[in-house]
Amino acid sequence: MGIEVARAHGCVVVDKNGTEYLDFLSGIGVASIGHTHPAVINAIKEQAERYLHAMVYGEYVQEPQVRLAQRLAEVAPSPLSVTYFTNSGTEAIEGALKTARKYTGRSGFVSFFGSFHGDTFGSLSVGGNPLYREPFEPLLPDVTFLPFNVTTALDSIDETIAAVLIEPIQGEGGVRIPDDDFLPTLRRRCDDVGALLIFDEVITGFSRTGKMFAAEHWQITPDIMVLAKALGGGMPLGAFMSTPEIMATLSTDPPLAHVTTFGGHPVCCAAGLASLNFMLETNLPQRAQEKGQELLSQLRSLVGHGEFTNVRGRGLMIGMDFASPEATKHFVQHCFAAGLILGWTLHRDTVVRLAPPLIISTSEIDQAIAIMHDALH
Ligand SMILES: Cc1ncc(COP(=O)(O)O)c(C=O)c1O
Repeated sequence: MGIEVARAHGCVVVDKNGTEYLDFLSGIGVASIGHTHPAVINAIKEQAERYLHAMVYGEYVQEPQVRLAQRLAEVAPSPLSVTYFTNSGTEAIEGALKTARKYTGRSGFVSFFGSFHGDTFGSLSVGGNPLYREPFEPLLPDVTFLPFNVTTALDSIDETIAAVLIEPIQGEGGVRIPDDDFLPTLRRRCDDVGALLIFDEVITGFSRTGKMFAAEHWQITPDIMVLAKALGGGMPLGAFMSTPEIMATLSTDPPLAHVTTFGGHPVCCAAGLASLNFMLETNLPQRAQEKGQELLSQLRSLVGHGEFTNVRGRGLMIGMDFASPEATKHFVQHCFAAGLILGWTLHRDTVVRLAPPLIISTSEIDQAIAIMHDALH
């Protein structure tokens, strides 16, 4: 898009010429509480004046890390009460994969076609699009890919599998929402064969889908939950959470089985805590659900125009289907020229992804719909 960013606040990004763009992408799902939220900025300033990096993660007691981990333990599905902080989503995936291997003593991983989990070697190895994997092979061995949302395929998960990794709603795969029985069946299958279930909630977490975590839609508790993006309130922060028993595996044989210098940076954790507190104080999951309904119902009335064929979503994670890549591109470019930022997904060039800040107002939704309406006619 090439915007030269001068400022960003709330749902708006401003370029160096003063042109304002309505941001329906949130830096790919990061700015859930809006850009440069005052509570986050204050927390950053306060912590920056106290200390920045003081020691590698876990060696000293650094209060912002402890406070954020405590808050996460309160909001995550029980019994996921222990958090390991990283700098990014892909690092958190790496940590989760390593933990699962060491805890189970097994080597195999199962992932799903269309998934995206990051671009470091381990995460790429479990990424469900061969186009991005093949140039970098050989990758991790013992990874099996299954079709997303095909319940019968889950029977092939067996006792060799350390963990099954899944996005509860696929993001880059085209905003794919599984049928009601898919994830509960997967949970049961993992229990039956003793494989850990890892939910990648990097995009879906922190109110995006109308719940604090998408797992809540199916009343499922994964064994490990991976977080990033909106976690840091705009600062780089990732995490994986699990039970005390599973996480203890990283503390022994060898004692420092997984370390990071900058993971859980105090300034990022202070920002993350301010962001999470704002979400809780304003009941942001509920708000995302209501605004998502508003947006979705207006989008439904546009289906059938300009090769726009279908729309689906949970909360404010919404996918619009188009009949061709050309129509998709034309739509996104037209909207952009009119001041609305939207995006493709990485693996589906006929899906437009909408992920506005969850604080979006009705008038901003109306403004976006008017632009989309024009782009389709
Ligand atoms: C579902 C999912 N998992 C993991 C990642 C990787 O996160 P990061 O870019 O912070 O490494 C992404 C990034 O887009 C993602 O969408």
